[in-house]
Amino acid sequence: MVSEEGRSVVINGERFRVYLDRETIERRVRDIADAISRDYEGKTPIFIGVLNGAFIFLADLMRHVRIDCEVDFLKLSSYGAERITSGKVRELKRIDADIENRHVIVVEDIVDTGLSMDWIMDHLAEHRPASLSTAVLLHKPDASRTKVSLDYVGFRIENKFVVGYGLDYAQVGRHLPDLYMLDPSGQ
Ligand code: IMP
Repeated sequence: MVSEEGRSVVINGERFRVYLDRETIERRVRDIADAISRDYEGKTPIFIGVLNGAFIFLADLMRHVRIDCEVDFLKLSSYGAERITSGKVRELKRIDADIENRHVIVVEDIVDTGLSMDWIMDHLAEHRPASLSTAVLLHKPDASRTKVSLDYVGFRIENKFVVGYGLDYAQVGRHLPDLYMLDPSGQ
């Protein structure tokens, strides 16, 4: 359950504080949409959103893009109720679109260890797209366990757990319009 007190929320008994407010996020999402509109002009890219976390970022990104584009989704196993990755990636939903010879942009909420994105890139490359790139709202460089290359990055953030703007803690907190970071002091 989420209880809000000004600039902080308590989720599952732990306190999170506002880290990126909605205006800051919106400005950066527009920047990324502008860059994609320039880079993919005339190419009708297909966005592949990674469920569940990317759905809000993807929706906002697509609304700001000024070129023809399509969308599809895949879903991987999540962290469950934990804040730490199991390190194992499992596919829960496959893409439906035929992406052979298409320009594909994978849209993720956050790259933490990078294991999910690494798996996705290897897996989608097997479908022989014309190009394959990544748009991620958040990147935690200090948590990285892979060398995955990221093309469009919203914010590079500290290695702390975050919720809101699509990201959850044990499925709670996705609806929050701002992004919150775990406050270890909890005060
Ligand atoms: P990775 O495979 O470790 O890079 O983690 C990727 C997935 O873990 C993301 O798509 C998120 O669903 C989840 N995740 C990683 N860090 C966070 C966080 O700080 N808050 C919420 N979810 C996270």
